[in-house]
Amino acid sequence: MTKIEKIVLSYSGGLDTSIILKWLQETYGCEVVTFTADLGQGEELEPARANAEMVGVKDIRIVDLREEFVSDFVFPMLRANALYEGQYLLGSSIARPLIAKHLVGIAREVGADAVAHGATGKGNDQIRFELAVNALDPSIKVIAPWRQWNIRSRMQLLEYAKKHHIPVPSDKRGEAPFSIDANLLHTSTEGKILENPAEVAPDHVYQRTVDPVDAPDTPEIVTIGFDWGDPVSVNGKSMTPAALLTELNGLGGRHGIGRLDLVENRFIGMKSRGIYETPGGTILLTAHRGIESITLDRAAAHLKDEIMPRYAELIYNGFWFAPEREMLQALIDHSQAFVSGEVTLRLYKGSASVISRASPGSLYSADLVTFEESAVAYDHHDAEGFIRLNGLRLRNWAARNGR
Ligand code: ARG
Repeated sequence: MTKIEKIVLSYSGGLDTSIILKWLQETYGCEVVTFTADLGQGEELEPARANAEMVGVKDIRIVDLREEFVSDFVFPMLRANALYEGQYLLGSSIARPLIAKHLVGIAREVGADAVAHGATGKGNDQIRFELAVNALDPSIKVIAPWRQWNIRSRMQLLEYAKKHHIPVPSDKRGEAPFSIDANLLHTSTEGKILENPAEVAPDHVYQRTVDPVDAPDTPEIVTIGFDWGDPVSVNGKSMTPAALLTELNGLGGRHGIGRLDLVENRFIGMKSRGIYETPGGTILLTAHRGIESITLDRAAAHLKDEIMPRYAELIYNGFWFAPEREMLQALIDHSQAFVSGEVTLRLYKGSASVISRASPGSLYSADLVTFEESAVAYDHHDAEGFIRLNGLRLRNWAARNGR
């Protein structure tokens, strides 16, 4: 085993990383610095400090990254309307490069030669952490205990915890918890009964949204302001990125918006089933498409839609810090220059629907499209020629086919 001098661990304070902390100290016999990121997971972070102190950690970092997460990661991704496999808003995927960036930053600051994470050997998150570290500082080694130790299952993990007197959390029903990843953008739940995609997810897996069936019978109207493709206000009130997303999570959660039960294809090879809740993100995606519908040129909008699956796949697969993602980002950002204005949506029993939109940079021309008489120069004969030429090859084709 290579000698390691100092390790920075991405530490949630939960069961897995508490065991990892212990294991790193025992296995490498070196100093471990813990880094706990506040990404708006809605959990108390102070227990992480207490847990780390208990096992003798001297350098404990707890950092509020909520604003950076939303402004530098979530919003740029939203400009692309990114969805993986048509449905997943990438809530876990987009958080990993940010955590990796700070792991590397702290490692440099404290002179650590390695970073460690608690992602398992079967998931996407290990790839995302490690590709990001590779891209940001190739001199830093990555330790992934889940791939190194001989704990192979959650059962064995619980046994290890018992042996080392590490408290094992249970959910509100007293059962072992699901595998949950939460931040300001989403909550993702995997494992246990969800591993059978033929089983309906029990209601208690949902944490931040009500069942649409139980949502209020009266709709709620919300107006979102955009500037350069980014949301900047709710109902006329300017908000910071994290405050805005927090506000929309509350609204969306109450109306049962943004639930997703998905079987997806992991980069590592297998299919997996997860439950996602992305209330604010779902509202923002709909609203952003609404403001783009009047401000983007047709070809610009269609080009964005063509590259979107590629861009989303890059983020899903862990290539946030990669030249091709940055190139696509430049294209997407460039397209947003006139994507400003206001979109009004109706939230009602699980749906967020655009009901009006307005922009100083609108390309929409009522004069041009109107069914009524109009002063705009538009010659109907042009349409006749346009159709005749577009139909030329179709007439030729049909004649050959003997129709
Ligand atoms: N499958 C999702 C992704 O790859 C979420 C992964 C983390 N979630 C979890 N519940 N452990 O982005």
